[in-house]
Amino acid sequence: MMNDSLWYKDVVFYEVNVRAFYDSNGDGYGDLRGLMSKLDYLKELGVDCLWLLPIYPSPLKDDGYDIADYYNIHPDYGTLDDFKALLDAAHQRDMRVITDLVLNHTSDQHPWFQAARKDKNSVYREYYVWSDSDQMFSEARIIFLDSVESNWTWDEEAGQYYWHRFYASQPDLNFDNPAVQDEILKVIAFWLDLGVDGFRADAVPYLIEREGTNCENLPETHAYLKKIREYLNENYPDRILLAEANQWPEEVLPYFGDGTDEFHMGFHFPVMPRLFMSIRKGDRSALQWILDHTPPIPETNQWCIFLRNHDELTLEMVTPEEREWLWKEYAPEPRMRLNQGIRRRLAPLLDNDRRKIELLNSMLFTLPGSPIIYYGDEIGMGDNIWLEDRNGVRTPMQWNQSMNAGFSRNETTYAPLIDDDVYGYHRVNVETQMQTPGSLWQTIKGMISVRKGEPAFSRGDFEWLDCNTRAVAGYVRNLGGERLIILNNLSDQVQTISCGMHGQNLIDLLHRDTPSFQKGQIEFQLQPYEYRWLKVQALWELLY
Ligand code: BGC
Repeated sequence: MMNDSLWYKDVVFYEVNVRAFYDSNGDGYGDLRGLMSKLDYLKELGVDCLWLLPIYPSPLKDDGYDIADYYNIHPDYGTLDDFKALLDAAHQRDMRVITDLVLNHTSDQHPWFQAARKDKNSVYREYYVWSDSDQMFSEARIIFLDSVESNWTWDEEAGQYYWHRFYASQPDLNFDNPAVQDEILKVIAFWLDLGVDGFRADAVPYLIEREGTNCENLPETHAYLKKIREYLNENYPDRILLAEANQWPEEVLPYFGDGTDEFHMGFHFPVMPRLFMSIRKGDRSALQWILDHTPPIPETNQWCIFLRNHDELTLEMVTPEEREWLWKEYAPEPRMRLNQGIRRRLAPLLDNDRRKIELLNSMLFTLPGSPIIYYGDEIGMGDNIWLEDRNGVRTPMQWNQSMNAGFSRNETTYAPLIDDDVYGYHRVNVETQMQTPGSLWQTIKGMISVRKGEPAFSRGDFEWLDCNTRAVAGYVRNLGGERLIILNNLSDQVQTISCGMHGQNLIDLLHRDTPSFQKGQIEFQLQPYEYRWLKVQALWELLY
């Protein structure tokens, strides 16, 4: 295993839905043994760290983000022994595994909630947040806008309202109660002792509520999160915490603490919709704006960036006008919209245009932060907007052209396969793409491998490059003497740009033509949506 304590800065993550990946026992559901049998595939792609969506026992009202038992595995996925075997197999391959830690809430089927609602005097009553009225914390927004009317739900058995930031089947834990704080530390220790390499901590802004606030990012919440980190620092110093805080960068900043006392990593949510804005407008301004408004983070921290994930493409971190525009451009059908977002996968969002899919991946692998690939996007999988909630982007992985895309030998599967003319598994699958030179899969694998050879991608500084046109997102990544120049033509027009430079050698990292240059000026013709990754050899200097 890599033992650099900052390992998380260099890794490529892969977000995997165990149910959707590979079914080893033929029951129609993907499972841990199935995932284990595909580790070599992921290794070949260049993945270093898996992020597993929730795998705990759950009534699955929110696909496992409603946990009924923190100490076990959902029977669809296997057993704790299977999980240990998966961890061992990953570690043997020098891969790491982080899991989802859902701490804000449990399922209403969790024994704590069952005990709490039955008996006012039970110790578990204070594990949750109760009120005689539904008027408290009225400044807290509703997150699942399409299906939840209030953050309070009346519980007949308890004779009180309980608080929940998500579905009513997910009562919020009461983090003002020290017993709850201790319970979650025990959960953390249990999984770290099994060998997980860290957690993607779900929905962390909402742990604690206070009247008169929007109940997000409160100092009391940070104080508890710091306790978790302290516990890790003392007992498991090489494991990581990744914050899921869908917030503006300046609000995420405190989750990094002083660099050593809260999270190691945080998702950069607002970058993502702006990548989609920039490519649709052929203009880098939106992307530049958000990166220019991203404060520096401590050396030991790292952003995580992504193009898509298992949720709707969230539009919470854009202005109302931008949201309307993004909906109009990317979600013309009402079924494509959900809450404040868009429930579609990467390839359909980009009209299945190979140039655009590659271009966004070019930015995913070269902008600051550790990249996360959402399972199936490496082959350009499609979606099914007719499935409920976010299930349309959680369909079975497409391995080959055989029955059920090689995902399961069972006649029926937990969700229908994508089987249309454009994205169906006969056309879009792993096997074909692995065998076809120049396939999307091969291209992404190539990008990952180049990224890994150049530490400036993962640890370097970032500076915009003035390309005399906003149609090109050009930037420099610097680390020590290493300089990388990345050019992304966001537009559907040929762009001719020239960068002032002097020196001797410029290498095209993606092994295309070397650019032509005259008297220190480098001139590029970028085809529509073309990207170039260039390395300035040591003696070169950039002139701005
Ligand atoms: C997860 C969602 C989930 C919610 C509630 C989110 O941040 O990504 O999938 O529904 O938390 O747990």
